[in-house]
Amino acid sequence: MFEHRQYRWPQPLKGSRPRIWYGGDYNPDQWPEEVWSEDVRLMGEAGVNIVSLGIFSWDRIEPREGEFDFGWLDKVIGMLGRAGIAVDLASATASPPLWLTQKHPEVLLRDQEGHTVWPGARQHWRPTSPVFRDYALKLCRALAEHYKGNPYVVAWHVGNEYGCHNRFDYSDDAMHAFQEWCRQRYGTPQAVNEAWGAAFWSQEITDFSQIIPPRYVGVQGSFTNPSKMLDFKRFCSDALKAFYSAERDELSRITPDIPLTTNFMVSVNSSVLDYDDWGDEVDFVSNDHYFLPGEAHLDEMAYSASLVDGIARKRPWFLMENSTSAVNWRPINYRKEPGQLIRDAMVHLGMGADAICFFQWRQSRAGAEKFHSAMLPHSGENSQVFRDVCELGDDLNKLADAGILETRLKKSEVAIVFDYESEWATENLATPTQQVCHATEPLDWFRAFADHGVTADMVPIRGPWDEYDTVVLPSVYLLSEKNSQRLREYVKGGGKVIVTCYSGISDEHDHIWLGGYPGSIGDVVGVRSEEFVPMGDDDGTLDHLELTNGTVARDIADHITDVAPSAKVLASYKAGEYTGLDGVPAITLNGFGSGLAAYVGCRLGREGLSQTLPELLGQMNVPYVKGQDTGSILRVERGATQDGKDTCFVFYFNRDSKPAAAAISGVPVVTSHASVDAGRKNALLEPNGVVVTKE
Ligand code: GAL
Repeated sequence: MFEHRQYRWPQPLKGSRPRIWYGGDYNPDQWPEEVWSEDVRLMGEAGVNIVSLGIFSWDRIEPREGEFDFGWLDKVIGMLGRAGIAVDLASATASPPLWLTQKHPEVLLRDQEGHTVWPGARQHWRPTSPVFRDYALKLCRALAEHYKGNPYVVAWHVGNEYGCHNRFDYSDDAMHAFQEWCRQRYGTPQAVNEAWGAAFWSQEITDFSQIIPPRYVGVQGSFTNPSKMLDFKRFCSDALKAFYSAERDELSRITPDIPLTTNFMVSVNSSVLDYDDWGDEVDFVSNDHYFLPGEAHLDEMAYSASLVDGIARKRPWFLMENSTSAVNWRPINYRKEPGQLIRDAMVHLGMGADAICFFQWRQSRAGAEKFHSAMLPHSGENSQVFRDVCELGDDLNKLADAGILETRLKKSEVAIVFDYESEWATENLATPTQQVCHATEPLDWFRAFADHGVTADMVPIRGPWDEYDTVVLPSVYLLSEKNSQRLREYVKGGGKVIVTCYSGISDEHDHIWLGGYPGSIGDVVGVRSEEFVPMGDDDGTLDHLELTNGTVARDIADHITDVAPSAKVLASYKAGEYTGLDGVPAITLNGFGSGLAAYVGCRLGREGLSQTLPELLGQMNVPYVKGQDTGSILRVERGATQDGKDTCFVFYFNRDSKPAAAAISGVPVVTSHASVDAGRKNALLEPNGVVVTKE
């Protein structure tokens, strides 16, 4: 178990009051110097008080090997600082200069099929290359030596989104590092064989040198060993973490007073690294989040922000990047609708962020991201985006003045457990169905609770989920002996848990728990399933199952054959005679110790879960589900108790695509795309509207 690094937050510039940090990535090196003073003037208008600088500037800082040019950077930092704008300074290692890769092509990444990943984009380096590490650390040293004592640098931005483009490297450097990682983890070749189930397909090693990364194994259908694949993902997260830590330690050795972070990428369905593990390694957690276009936009954002808050263990966190409008990297890059720029920022803020930043300050004229939105768009200051950016700056100042920085996201009654390793394991290709994975199930549960006015906390599996009244384990596929035991103790001691199908299937090596599913916690949930029932839409196959509670299961169901005497069946399947599933239990509730364990043995989707929750939670004596009519407003609370007085900021968001009413309390501080009546009791929120009150 790692200890968390001590929490440290970037401090305001001398003479400035603590504010919500507000700004974005700033790339002045893409612009002639005349533009810089206009940038600083407009940043002032918008209320910007911090920028992330130099993220991709290695070749400008070190134009030739060992020759450093800080002149331009000094000038920009001075201009910003004198205008009251602080700097989150990058270690600048995200994109190496061409002189480096020309001289040392051996630092370039190799893909699964052995192709070289050439310069041309960014992050094309191997985290395990000792040569690359040397150059990167030299740069860190030079930067830290030059900027130590600079009054305007308030944080280090180490690297950038590690693993975004270089998560998987299959080079020989990676191979040697993977061998060493396995030696550290397992000690002997026999233990590796055991962990990987290597007796299967003659894969046993007798020496660590026989371990190769999961390189190309042939056409589709030639599956890589899933236990090895899971370890490779762990290794890749660790290899990047080791690289990051080396940079961090170099910087903090020279500038011990400057807090450090690196920007995570927490959002649904894209867990490149084990961010909960990385959370131990930063002084403050920061995240980049890009909206999911479509009807799940708000919910997914709240879900991801809640998970970041869980990773930060409810300490303040930093939204390092989001977009003012469209991104440039999807097939169709939808713009943000009116209201969304401010609303989205308020979602992160409500969920515990004390900093709101964007990629990027000024929209590029050239390069791969010229169609990516920015705070200052191509059209200039006379634009809706810039007006919204200025309005947001004002709103953040009002909230800071009202005291929001003293408050934290309030703990919910419900924890939904998230597990990076279960997401990685369920991505495997040789599974009962590709439709079920840990990535999407937690979001369905978060949304179903929100449909009933409950904003759940997303809590990483290493986190304190067992301190909540009610816990959901949504397809937490991997459960180690230790975590199974933790769940057992929690329920025994009076906890209430809802476990869903495809949980507790395998141990941490992805070896199946035997005896029927869910093998490791069968006693807790009081059911035993003998076989999965995957569903699809191939001609004539079973594509859905109706339940007696009126919901419909799709994608997967368990064939539950045994129910313990202590358990009762809450719903079962209504299926055709010859399916063997008619009357088979679908949802059950077991008394275990002093607690209760419900089991939802099929995939009901957000809608089915939402329909199921009132009855299920009623049976579990969970009182706080407020009924479906509360579902159009997402309510988030940040609170604090000071000198015996409770302060609370309540955020109201409209989840509907039509106007929605909210009964509010307290004094409105921020109102966007919404109106509040004279008595301050009712608000009417347009779609994408938000109201924040202080109680
Ligand atoms: C992030 C990255 C930024 C920018 C942005 C565009 O992944 O850190 O540099 O590329 O995406 O959405």
